[in-house]
Amino acid sequence: MVKVSVLGAAGGIGQPLSLLLKANPLVTELALFDIVNTPGVAADLSHINTPATVKGYVGNEQLEAALTGSHIIVIPAGVPRKPGMTRDDLFNINAGIVKNLATGAAKWAPKAFICVISNPVNSTVPIVAEVLKQHGVFDPKRLFGVTTLDIVRASTFVAEAKGGKAPNTIVPVLGGHSGVTIVPVLSATGHTFSQEELDALTKRIQYGGDEVVKAKDGAGSATLSMAFAGARFANSLLEASVTKKTGITECTYVKSDVVPGVEYFATVVEFGVNGVHKVHPLPTLSAHEQKLLDAAIPELKNNIAKGIEFVNKA
Ligand code: NAD
Ligand code: LMR
Repeated sequence: MVKVSVLGAAGGIGQPLSLLLKANPLVTELALFDIVNTPGVAADLSHINTPATVKGYVGNEQLEAALTGSHIIVIPAGVPRKPGMTRDDLFNINAGIVKNLATGAAKWAPKAFICVISNPVNSTVPIVAEVLKQHGVFDPKRLFGVTTLDIVRASTFVAEAKGGKAPNTIVPVLGGHSGVTIVPVLSATGHTFSQEELDALTKRIQYGGDEVVKAKDGAGSATLSMAFAGARFANSLLEASVTKKTGITECTYVKSDVVPGVEYFATVVEFGVNGVHKVHPLPTLSAHEQKLLDAAIPELKNNIAKGIEFVNKA
């Protein structure tokens, strides 16, 4: 039995992500939690003839039932950006939402893999970790910040610029998930780039989210591409933990010591039956990429400290 719980399942990401998870034959039970509308989403998805049973849960009093027995918890709950906002501007609202959901996970699904999509990811992952620590159930192998959309975007943008098939264009993206903390390793693609191309592609990957926020013009941020990325990430975890396939890797934001003094960092991670099997060391970086990493570190440290302090301040 493989139960996947989606927290924030009625939202812009939550609905298409739940659809893609319902289409995954490795999932046998899909628990859709939100503060509104999940019975309707669940009824709709439940007519699809794939193995997963689907149930909607609404409101805090149903969080326990939504989480109990979960193998994977995916969290896209919270507010999205509007034009002119940074992801950190979402902190005041989303930190509390994520803290509450993490408390539920600590109590009712302490062994689940937790995949955090809610922004600002650089801070919400430390928030979840601190809540789990307070309950004595933190396992760094089981907590992930989902940065897969950066990987998906990077391969699309590089293939568009240099030719080749996007799915075969692998671009590791390190660091975190906001602006300068996003560090694409374009030197790993095998392509050669002029300095102008490097600068333009790096900027596009770092600020890809802003492109969508601007185009949606007040109606939110990336939802469909994020659902695709989130479903890919969940599937990789399922393949490693349920079908026990080896050698599965994703770039993801996890507790890490690859960069001294930066407690959470996105890099290539190999999955195993218990979640993180191996955090890969930093790949060889070009001088351009080393500069990007140097610029990312102070902001990343601030974002992490802000999340940790939020949980421990009271
Ligand atoms: P949305 O507003 O469309 O949906 C959010 C959902 O969360 C809503 O259905 C809302 O009812 C629900 N929600 C609010 N409070 C809740 C609570 N306490 N418990 C459970 N559910 C609650 O927003 P969206 O476009 O789906 O984006 C959701 C989050 O994902 C945002 O924070 C956004 O910035 C983030 N995001 C992250 C990435 C990434 O790469 N990690 C990509 C895109 C968006
Ligand atoms: C993204 O990268 O698309 C998300 O983090 C949403 C956003 O606010 O840009």
